[in-house]
Amino acid sequence: MAYKITVIPGDGIGKEITDAAVKVLKKTDEKFQLGLSYTYKDAGGTAYDKFGTPLPDDTVVACKASDGVLFGAVGGDKWDGVEPSLRPEKAILGLRKQLGLYANLRPVKVADALVEYSPLKPELAKGVDLVIVRELIGGIYFGDKCESEQYKGSERAWDLENYSVPEVERITKLAFETAKLRRGKVTSVDKANVLATSRLWRRTTAEVAKGYPEVALNNLYVDNCAMQLAIRPAQFDVIVTGNLFGDILSDEAAVVGGSIGILPSASIGTDTSLYEPIHGSAPDIAGKGIANPMGTVLSAAMLLRYSLHEEAAAKAIEAAVDQALADGYRTADLYKDGFQRVSTDEMADVICER
Ligand code: NAI
Ligand code: MG
Repeated sequence: MAYKITVIPGDGIGKEITDAAVKVLKKTDEKFQLGLSYTYKDAGGTAYDKFGTPLPDDTVVACKASDGVLFGAVGGDKWDGVEPSLRPEKAILGLRKQLGLYANLRPVKVADALVEYSPLKPELAKGVDLVIVRELIGGIYFGDKCESEQYKGSERAWDLENYSVPEVERITKLAFETAKLRRGKVTSVDKANVLATSRLWRRTTAEVAKGYPEVALNNLYVDNCAMQLAIRPAQFDVIVTGNLFGDILSDEAAVVGGSIGILPSASIGTDTSLYEPIHGSAPDIAGKGIANPMGTVLSAAMLLRYSLHEEAAAKAIEAAVDQALADGYRTADLYKDGFQRVSTDEMADVICER
């Protein structure tokens, strides 16, 4: 087997965390004989400084030619003065568009060793292990918009929420496939009591569910889901929802995890998919070697799972991260008295040993 991975470190802590994740990938490759190779490309402010654009064509071409993209983070105050169309964040938006990244997967797993870091009571945080599958390139964010002054007395503006059956089928199929690899439960989140798009969503999801008899489907209104995430988050396995609801719910769910440094994500494309931690470039701690690499390491595990279908290798990385935490190793963001403080690179070694 031979797989090509494009690595885009980006800005800020991007280099430190992707270096750590590649170290873990190399160790995993030794054990599982995956035949991974790596091509490094620029994006974000770093690319702007070198080439005058946050997303060089050459980077896009390399991504398209690879089996998966491992992305660090982009952005930083250094580029605050840059004109809006050339800002570092345009790199990730451009990649979403160019690679057709139609789904965002955000797992939130509270490791037993990290239960105390959650803002929820320990008995509620314990055992949380869910994935939010968010539709990423449709819905109200991409519908027609109007900012109008034609209304007498008051100005008015609107954004059009709209979904087609094929768009809903594509995202819900991905959710069911994801559930098959997990505990076999899909919760579809909508607002079908008031929105026509939600009624189409619900109808389509029910049709897709017929192809997955081994997976249980239930529907939940978004307002109820927001409450359930705060009072009983451990009930969820896979949550699938549209772009707007998914944006909000995935941030709410991330908080349950208690630390921004450990959460991974996958953005699934029709051809190539992209994997990145949920946090940004953390300019405040860049270059100090103290960033938590676990979100990026777990993103690399997702790359093995979803792009290379190397489930055993993905699970091995996830188990090693859990074990590193259980053994008391902590980067600065999670450090407390009585634990073993390690740097970004040392944490990679600790994970590799496990
Ligand atoms: P941020 O996520 O970079 O940082 C928020 C806080 O969390 C900071 O105090 C930071 O030190 C800490 N933090 C983040 N990741 C950490 C890690 N791995 N280990 C330890 N501590 C960590 O969010 P912020 O400050 O709002 O944004 C900084 C820059 O990142 C901005 O330019 C923003 O636009 C960009 N950004 C980029 C994203 C991407 O590349 N996909 C996503 C979010 C923000
Ligand atoms: Mg958001």
